Amino acid sequence: MTRLGQSSIEDVVAAMTLEEKVRLLRGKGVSISGEGGPTVGVKMDERVPGAAGSTFALERLGIPSLVMADGPAGVRIAPQREGSDVRFHATAFPIATLLASTWDQALVEDVGSAFGHEAKEYGIDVLLAPALNLHRFPLGGRNFEYYAEDPLLSGKMAAAFVRGLQSQGVGASIKHFVANNHEWNRFAMDVKVDERALRELYLRGFEIAVKESQPWTVMSSYNKVNGEYTSECARLLTRILREEWGYDGLVVTDWFAGQDVAAQVRAGNDLLMPGTDAEETEIGEALASGALEEASVDRNVANLLRLALKSPTFAAYAYGERPDLASSAVLARRSATEGMVLLKNDAGVLPFAGQGSLALFGNHAYDLIAGGTGSGDVNKAYSVSLREGLEAGGAKVDTDLAAQYQAHLDSEKAKQPKLTGLAAFMPKSPIVEMTLASELIETAADRNAAAILVIGRTSGEFADREASDFLLDNGELSLLGRVSRAFRSRRKPIVCVLNIGGVVEVASWRDKVDALLVAWQPGQEGGHAVADVLLGEVNPSGRLPDSFPMMLSDLLAAENFPGVATGEATMRAGAVPVTPSEIEYRDGIWVGYRYLNTFDKEVAYPFGHGLSYAEFTMTDLDLSSESFEDELVASVKVANTGAHAGKEVAQVYISAPSSDGFEKPSEELRAFAKTRLLSPGESQVLSFRLTLRDLASFDATRGSWVADSGTYVLKVGASSRDIRASARFRLASTRVIGGAAKA
Ligand code: BGC
Repeated sequence: MTRLGQSSIEDVVAAMTLEEKVRLLRGKGVSISGEGGPTVGVKMDERVPGAAGSTFALERLGIPSLVMADGPAGVRIAPQREGSDVRFHATAFPIATLLASTWDQALVEDVGSAFGHEAKEYGIDVLLAPALNLHRFPLGGRNFEYYAEDPLLSGKMAAAFVRGLQSQGVGASIKHFVANNHEWNRFAMDVKVDERALRELYLRGFEIAVKESQPWTVMSSYNKVNGEYTSECARLLTRILREEWGYDGLVVTDWFAGQDVAAQVRAGNDLLMPGTDAEETEIGEALASGALEEASVDRNVANLLRLALKSPTFAAYAYGERPDLASSAVLARRSATEGMVLLKNDAGVLPFAGQGSLALFGNHAYDLIAGGTGSGDVNKAYSVSLREGLEAGGAKVDTDLAAQYQAHLDSEKAKQPKLTGLAAFMPKSPIVEMTLASELIETAADRNAAAILVIGRTSGEFADREASDFLLDNGELSLLGRVSRAFRSRRKPIVCVLNIGGVVEVASWRDKVDALLVAWQPGQEGGHAVADVLLGEVNPSGRLPDSFPMMLSDLLAAENFPGVATGEATMRAGAVPVTPSEIEYRDGIWVGYRYLNTFDKEVAYPFGHGLSYAEFTMTDLDLSSESFEDELVASVKVANTGAHAGKEVAQVYISAPSSDGFEKPSEELRAFAKTRLLSPGESQVLSFRLTLRDLASFDATRGSWVADSGTYVLKVGASSRDIRASARFRLASTRVIGGAAKA
């Protein structure tokens, strides 16, 4: 008898009818019962309520139904089930941007492993994470789900996360492949991008993640790239992903993505999710008319079977629905503290050292934003506010002020409409800051030792942020100005905490605060984690994964963001009516610090920046050779010369020589490492291995990665603009690396 696991994959495929094969290529439909989930599509029969989707079983051949759930900040399932009082919560970890800010691959691997544990214990086979599109522009609505503006940092973080997740026997889905950097018109957006930028920036992180972590699945994206839906593009899904990079897993569509089902199947998009009856009909018709050959169907089904073989469900894993949430909470807190970035700390006002009570201003001091919205959100059991975190850390908080804020928040929340369906999935309008009476601010300044002002921002699926969201609004600016004046006139400090999912403008107002901490959206343990840093329990060691520009217009992408409308609506699945648009990535490779550094633009804070309560030196830079043959090892000594124990991140940038006017960035991140916790006076030697690819750029005219001959400068820094040591080496002759799939 033919059965999966006992017979070869080929035999199992051969034992199926054509109808059975086609059925396996689409999922069962979308869930309508997940709290906060969309109410579109058909109801699937749910083994895990609130999961994003599942595949069909074929019992006669021993093929199980696989369950897939989001997402990048934690396992997204419904906490409540009909007829049960039990709650099924998963941990809301910090957002991906915060995890990237840790620059700590071992930590991110641990976090991935905790996600894997929770997913497995809830009966999930594939977690729809990590997401690693590039932070091309600060207004990207899903930037919080993604790691960084730099592809090496993104790719390394994704790879670490996948290794951790899959170590638990649960599959990852690296998404959204590729160039899904913005949300507006996402179902139809045509991204016009040149081959060099595609290779060096947008594909690069995926290439690293595929090669270094072998994810079980890759999710193709909604958008088109140069006129073709990625889910229908054989060059991307088969020639680059599989033939060039050696990927042997499954490719799944994003939910309802693309238009031409037969083209998706042919291109190597193995599984269509969440799956519709129409897709099944279309595939059947394409096969009958000869427009689609059965060999493509067989290949895709075989990929699904290989995935099934690895799955916990196939192994009949007896999940208990009782993951170890206590351990996850500890890790959520620890990882959050490690990714907080201290941007400024004048006169060492931080950490607070028990000097008296603290006045907390801003709605989000009492209602911290744990994460963004949409599929990247988690149905968490709780979220610790900053007030709770500080009090738990032993600090005193102004309770009168707190009471005023609480009353404001309660009454404003009561007025908010109850959202259902897609609206519940999208960001809510923020609660405006209340206008505080002058007397209240003055009294608070009299009786407290310092002020903490929290500024919050949220965003999520379907929409990018507005330009106004990048700036503080009038209410926030007025609050900031008044609190700053009141406290500073009494020689008391004011600290600002940015509770954000993406970059905001800081240059125009940062002089009004003494310290500035980017706490990102730090997950359900956020209040504890921010308090750990403010109170000095943990020395901040996060470094920016994005540049903080002076103004949005300092970035080239500002010129034509979010693109132009070009025609009539073409969306297939009927969820949101959209107008198709296209966006030309005129900035090419000049994204983030690559542009800002090379063209000497002033920035508020550069890529890689972040202060510590300690100080570090980087000395004794040593190269294994002055001439590059096949690889090179660099090492540097990092020493803690400060008074607190702390961690430093050594960032290795390369300046490559150019030939024939082929422009290259003045710095490109090629390696990085974080030290262990160094006590005052302690040091650690970090080393980095560079390969030929680390010297190369993509030359589109040759269709290859090329490392030009000449002198290279290797720079080790504490940020992309704080280079502490550099050394030169030579490449004797130009080297062309073959094997890239043609454009
Ligand atoms: C998102 C994906 C997500 C999927 C399933 C889509 O709307 O773009 O990131 O994994 O839904 O929820």
